[in-house]
Amino acid sequence: MSRHVVCPAAELPPGARKVVVVDGREIGVFNVEGRLHALLNRCPHGGAAICSGVVTGLSQSSGPGDYRLERRGEFLRCPWHGWEFDMATGQSWCDPRRTRVRSFEVKLEAGSDLVMGPYVAERYQVTVEDAYIVVDL
Ligand code: FES
Repeated sequence: MSRHVVCPAAELPPGARKVVVVDGREIGVFNVEGRLHALLNRCPHGGAAICSGVVTGLSQSSGPGDYRLERRGEFLRCPWHGWEFDMATGQSWCDPRRTRVRSFEVKLEAGSDLVMGPYVAERYQVTVEDAYIVVDL
């Protein structure tokens, strides 16, 4: 797994989305009321750029004439055929056992954590002994 910086947090406020290219893959990053989700920008049904779809909720009904929208802002509707996917899991609600959008781990990190690289130079003990500098290997 490799880490990639997407953007400063201020560029992705709650309700916003951003599509970026990481390692040749288009990935949509969504801020849903402070929760971050990252999805591959390719619908598993027919290959549409799903991250340009409408953000919606889950329609629930107890019978004819009764419906309500729950979990507002947590689902993404594909722009081609309207399949809806849970952004937290990538799960399809049309074919939940077999179809899901590929999702990626995404998190908010302090800039100070990002400026430090992954490599650490090899270090040795240095002392001064009777006017001589001595390195211990
Ligand atoms: S291509 Fe997305 S629902 Fe068909």
